[in-house]
Amino acid sequence: MARFICFANQKGGVGKTTLTALCANALSLPPFNKSVCVVDADRQKSFSTARSIDEKLTNKLPYKVVEMTSKEVVANIDDLEQFDFVFVDVQGKIDEGLSIKQQDNAKIFLLSDFIFIPFVSGSFGTDASIDFLKHLITLRDVKPSLTVWAVLNMFQSRTKESKALLDEMKVIGRVFNIDYISAPIGNLSAYRNVDTITSLYSKDNFKLFFDEFYKVIK
Ligand SMILES: Nc1ncnc2c1ncn2[C@@H]1O[C@H](COP(=O)(O)OP(=O)(O)OP(=O)(O)O)[C@@H](O)[C@H]1O
Ligand SMILES: [Mg+2]
Repeated sequence: MARFICFANQKGGVGKTTLTALCANALSLPPFNKSVCVVDADRQKSFSTARSIDEKLTNKLPYKVVEMTSKEVVANIDDLEQFDFVFVDVQGKIDEGLSIKQQDNAKIFLLSDFIFIPFVSGSFGTDASIDFLKHLITLRDVKPSLTVWAVLNMFQSRTKESKALLDEMKVIGRVFNIDYISAPIGNLSAYRNVDTITSLYSKDNFKLFFDEFYKVIK
């Protein structure tokens, strides 16, 4: 049985695709060596585009990347269950005004074992992420066990915005009954334009995050 993982947020540019790649790369390579599949369910196809660039550089690809719509994910669930971990990179959107059955991303969220919401500092960013969280937890009506975690991305520890985000995170956690990974992902050049083949696990900053993340998903 695979574990399905999704980095999700209605807000664009918060690092959904980047975090998917960083975690899929680390998990599929030493010392973890898990069998991983990444499903690109975003119409922008950012993940599969990154993979097609890597394919030209090497034939040593650590995991499979497939393009699927959310309906195709549901239809192909038995094939996907063969992997240890399946990451689904979804479009940043809320299907407002639609019933849960009609919502596109909800199909993915309802089959996900873990949903991680990247939060970035700055008041507008946080407001949109909180709106998304409010929307997401309505799915607990149909799936009470829905597990949501927050992740702090592009964190700049010395700024007052990031300190404020940490304080806010504690309140958000209590109000919405969610947890968060306490080690933030910094705003680092190493995380800009990540590929789909390199593990950054040995890098201190990422290891702190990933060890905590791995404890959650393993
Ligand atoms: N921790 C980080 N440090 C530095 N740059 C980052 C970090 N996380 C993401 N980025 C950069 O921010 C930009 C947006 O990231 P990304 O494409 O992963 O976001 P997204 O949420 O998937 O966006 P979209 O909504 O368009 O799918 C990219 O240029 C990426 O390289
Ligand atoms: Mg993306």
